[in-house]
Amino acid sequence: MSALIEKCVAIDGPCGSGKSSIAKVVAERLGALYVDTGAMFRAIGYFCFKNKIPFSEGDSLSSCIADLKLVYRKGDNSSGVYIEIGGEDLTDVIREHYVSELASKISKLQTVRDFLLMFQRAIAQHSLCVMEGRDIGTVVFPHSFCKIFLTAKDSVRANRRLLQLKEKGDCTVTFETVLADVKDRDERDMNRAVAPLKQASDAILLDSSDMSKDDVVEKIIDLVKESSCKNRLKI
Ligand code: DC
Repeated sequence: MSALIEKCVAIDGPCGSGKSSIAKVVAERLGALYVDTGAMFRAIGYFCFKNKIPFSEGDSLSSCIADLKLVYRKGDNSSGVYIEIGGEDLTDVIREHYVSELASKISKLQTVRDFLLMFQRAIAQHSLCVMEGRDIGTVVFPHSFCKIFLTAKDSVRANRRLLQLKEKGDCTVTFETVLADVKDRDERDMNRAVAPLKQASDAILLDSSDMSKDDVVEKIIDLVKESSCKNRLKI
């Protein structure tokens, strides 16, 4: 294996593109670990909010991050993720609607990104991973053997997000508010100075607007197989 090929499937894309549910199934099919990096930003955003740590660079944030006891592993719930900080299980609370904004805001900060970069790279040392986020193919694993950039039209993404929230029993949200939140988050995620959301030059673009989840999964599995053959990797 070339030293410059990283054995991690990188799936990036904006919110609501279907990354999480698709990456989870792709990982199961490949016998790989599913890594939801958004869950990590969510957990840190929630933790800082709860502990009144300002969302800005400075001593409070630095010492909070230096002492952070973050645990990420496979969960046996529907998200496939278990996450805790300092022994507190945050698996469910990070999926609350308001935590999306906290995650997006905390993700702008270099201290947080530096910490999670090391954390994410360390996870992938031990097993084949399917890692999804915003900067996996551009920053975390720039030499990933298979990079996918998954997207969908704004209205499709907002509808998917709305459905997820309704399924969780949140009846307060409307299509308009979710669409506005999706656009706000895109704006912040794409325009931040550090590791912004963007398609890596060697990533394959997949628009899932008119595709079923199964079709997207099959397409990605095919791409992973093709890339592993091309790079002579055993998957
Ligand atoms: O994928 P998600 O919606 O759970 O992510 C929540 C926020 O975390 C998202 O708005 C931006 C941030 N994020 C990031 O900056 N980089 C990542 N690799 C993953 C998420």
